[in-house]
Amino acid sequence: MTVSTICRRLLLPLSSGAALGAALTFYAWQASKRVELTRVPIVVPGLPPGLEGLRILHVADTHFPANGESLERFLRAAKSQDYDIVFATGDYADTSDGWPVVVEAFRRLKPGLGIYASLGGHERYPGAHHAGGQRTLGGDLRRFLNRVRGSHRALVDPAPLIAALEEVGVTVLVNENHSIELGGELVHLIAIDDAYLGLADLEHALPEPGGDGFRLLLSHTPDGLLHPRAAEVNLALSGHTHGGQIRLPFYGAPVRHARSVDRIRTAGLLPISGVPTFVSRGFGTALLPLRLGARPELAVLELHRAD
Ligand SMILES: [Fe+2]
Repeated sequence: MTVSTICRRLLLPLSSGAALGAALTFYAWQASKRVELTRVPIVVPGLPPGLEGLRILHVADTHFPANGESLERFLRAAKSQDYDIVFATGDYADTSDGWPVVVEAFRRLKPGLGIYASLGGHERYPGAHHAGGQRTLGGDLRRFLNRVRGSHRALVDPAPLIAALEEVGVTVLVNENHSIELGGELVHLIAIDDAYLGLADLEHALPEPGGDGFRLLLSHTPDGLLHPRAAEVNLALSGHTHGGQIRLPFYGAPVRHARSVDRIRTAGLLPISGVPTFVSRGFGTALLPLRLGARPELAVLELHRAD
């Protein structure tokens, strides 16, 4: 066998593999932008009659980049949905550079019954602005590696983002509860901080045990429900897993960043600690702008009574 024959035999499979890889990457990149508008009817045991049919727009893991590239796509998707109220569960921007985009996104949502939000881990991830102004390749690479390693050394205070959101009408709740009236019913909105970063305090956020009122929990990660008192909650909304973001055929999601889901059931309506929990696949992407088998999602949850 000649050298040129060997080269030809090696090159053919190599170039075919490279072409297949490039095609798959392109497909996953395209898929990361094709948002699915889901409508999810949820039968909630103990739902008060006044909440029957309530439509919740669940904003999760938008991961807006600082250049606002996905903002109009998000607003178009939201506009095409009918909803009464917005509940949001964090990871709104990829880093603090995207905070203005987050504020603009929420400013332009106009639900009749308000917007309530908890925080995710990415609300603490510093962008170039917090890292001293100028973006450099080295700085971007360092921040990327810190995120891959889950380093918490350089977290930023999300207080300015919270203040800006409150200014456009968003009620941001951090390890606390807030009582509102919806459909003539008392609802305790409970929001915990990011359990992935160890910031969640459900004990502090919950209202006193017993008492009236429907209890709805906003927790960035479903792992926030891995708590002995989670069962006091009637319904929970979460995100964080991105539905795995990359799912392999027959295997499921190799990466989930949450103990409360498994590689097959990484999103959707899941019972976690006995609580019906909607885990959104989220709208954006983290680390790589790719999705495979887990399209981005903007969900409207429609609550129904069990009868
Ligand atoms: Fe996320």
